[in-house]
Amino acid sequence: MNIKINGKIYEAKAGEAIFAVCKKNGIKVPTLCSTKKFQEGVCRICVVEIGGRLVTSCNTKVCEGMEIVTESEKIEKARRINLELLWADHAGKCATCKKNQMCELQNLALEYKIENFHFIPRKGEITGAEELDLIKDNWSRVVVENENPCISRNSELCIECRRCINICPEKKFGFNYRGNSVVVGTPYEKVLDCSFCGKCVEACPTGALTDQNNYLKIVEDLDNLEKFSVAVLDLGIEEKILKAMGKISPEKDLNKLLINLGFEKIVKLGKENLKIEFVKNIKDEYSRTKKINQQDIVVFFISSRIYEKAKRDKNLDYILSEREVARLVRDKEKIKIGKIHPIK
Ligand code: FES
Repeated sequence: MNIKINGKIYEAKAGEAIFAVCKKNGIKVPTLCSTKKFQEGVCRICVVEIGGRLVTSCNTKVCEGMEIVTESEKIEKARRINLELLWADHAGKCATCKKNQMCELQNLALEYKIENFHFIPRKGEITGAEELDLIKDNWSRVVVENENPCISRNSELCIECRRCINICPEKKFGFNYRGNSVVVGTPYEKVLDCSFCGKCVEACPTGALTDQNNYLKIVEDLDNLEKFSVAVLDLGIEEKILKAMGKISPEKDLNKLLINLGFEKIVKLGKENLKIEFVKNIKDEYSRTKKINQQDIVVFFISSRIYEKAKRDKNLDYILSEREVARLVRDKEKIKIGKIHPIK
């Protein structure tokens, strides 16, 4: 069938959503909740106009002759209000957030030049006694969990987009409480216990689900001139790192970026040495060939296999995801964090 988007004719299949047709044809429509597989119409950032009426493009199917507008004053106003509403539910602690500059909500707020917030927060940051009264019931339901070995959770930053609920193959997330008090969490808010595939962290648009690590210790080890830091790159991770970095650095030479971060040696896992056992033998190898004490060699495995973090091994010091490498690059470029010493 033929449909019109912004005055131009496009071909579309019956059953396709407007958002999917736009995406296929390179027409930008923002989203904070849709994924390839799930379009629930939760964030309402994807609104477009059909005959002057606003509809969510992710879950509105195309039909013959449809005329769609993706940018207008009315659309912009609606997107801005929806962004403000989402922000009201989100503790705006950007300066200290792991996802600062890598957060989809923050990026859209910047793009839509949100300056004032007109809505009272339902949870998270509060500024006055009256607000505290209004939300104190929710305050107690903010969950910050750092007890599992792989994934850090902070419900203050959650915008309830449902991506984690939809994407988790083990169905570990769901809604807790009801109505105005609803929050996304684990059943009975127990410590997250799963196979840690990391899909939820990858999908989370904000800093509500992030990688677990001793970040300050990592920075300290990388800056320590007495340590020999080895980065072992998992198969296919290079592309993911560059994607995770987004607008953080224009540098596309990954080797250069890693050397700048403080790595002395970069090893790439190929098909022949794909096994993690290879990574674990690196300390032996370098202490033998480079005559360096084993305790002065720090091995970082850069991989999306974040479940490996749960398996402690003395020959493998850190497992860093592509997101954590992007965070290191971000901090290296902005502040000289290496001068900060971890609190003992
Ligand atoms: S992408 Fe359509 S409502 Fe979120």
